[in-house]
Amino acid sequence: MKVAKTIDEIRRLVADARVGGARLVGLVPTMGALHEGHYSLIDVARGECDFVVVSIFVNPTQFAPNEDYRNYPRPVENDLAGCESHGVDAVFAPSADEMYQAGFAATVKVAGLTESMEGRCRPGHFDGVCTVVAKLFNIVGPNVAYFGAKDYQQSAVIRKMVADLDMPLRIAVCPIVREADGLAMSSRNANLDDAERIQAPVLHESLRLAERLIREGERNAANVIESVQSLLGENAPLGEADYVAIVDPDSLAAVEEIESDVVVALAVKFPSARLIDNMRVDVPKTSR
Ligand code: PAJ
Repeated sequence: MKVAKTIDEIRRLVADARVGGARLVGLVPTMGALHEGHYSLIDVARGECDFVVVSIFVNPTQFAPNEDYRNYPRPVENDLAGCESHGVDAVFAPSADEMYQAGFAATVKVAGLTESMEGRCRPGHFDGVCTVVAKLFNIVGPNVAYFGAKDYQQSAVIRKMVADLDMPLRIAVCPIVREADGLAMSSRNANLDDAERIQAPVLHESLRLAERLIREGERNAANVIESVQSLLGENAPLGEADYVAIVDPDSLAAVEEIESDVVVALAVKFPSARLIDNMRVDVPKTSR
């Protein structure tokens, strides 16, 4: 496995791989502190592609000044060992200066889909994500890039960016990987203290409650949201819900009457980490 720290180096590695016969190049963009969620994307990429690149870059432009950019975990040696053992061909791990040269002035912005949920709570976040992901696509030139459904809105925004800007690659979205108690794996889970960690599975429990209510026939989204909020309040008193939303899976528009499939998404702010989770609930045709 090769590790490239500069744009020139990773471009050369990918170009050499293509000359050597690699037809499908896969990219898994990450911010490191890799866990089984990331490795699931890498494993799918490894199964589908001839040459697999993982980028590890804690992107400063997607963090607001009051967010956890500085505290974001950076276990570089572990990450490299994990990539090696999952058969990654090349890791791209640039510095912030390499990615953002002095005078950097471009922004990629997707309107609409970015205006609710994470976009509303974290102004500017998706501009940072889209800009860095567009740069990574231009630097690596992958045929396929792999994202997790854990960040549902992010995956929808990236798909829209790729479609609207005619970026020549396929976006693959892979399922959420969870701990045994249901907590969605996240690099930020490492920052939770013991008491917070005990309460954190309630995110998933409350998504399952929403799913059950909808399956049992509840069609009023506000009622479902209220039940979810009260479960969160009871079982995660250390956390504060940023939002609980029921949205259309494609447009991400808030749904009032649940008449077809929806995504239930939420964010809870614990003192040590802000966690997000979501679940798609298929609404059976018979009850439509
Ligand atoms: P990061 O949070 O490191 O996540 C990298 C990828 O792993 C994302 O596509 C995310 O959805 C996926 N992922 C994280 N936890 C997962 C889980 N439990 N199950 C499945 N997939 C999971 O998302 C980012 O980094 C950044 O915003 C990035 C796209 C790299 C741009 O900086």
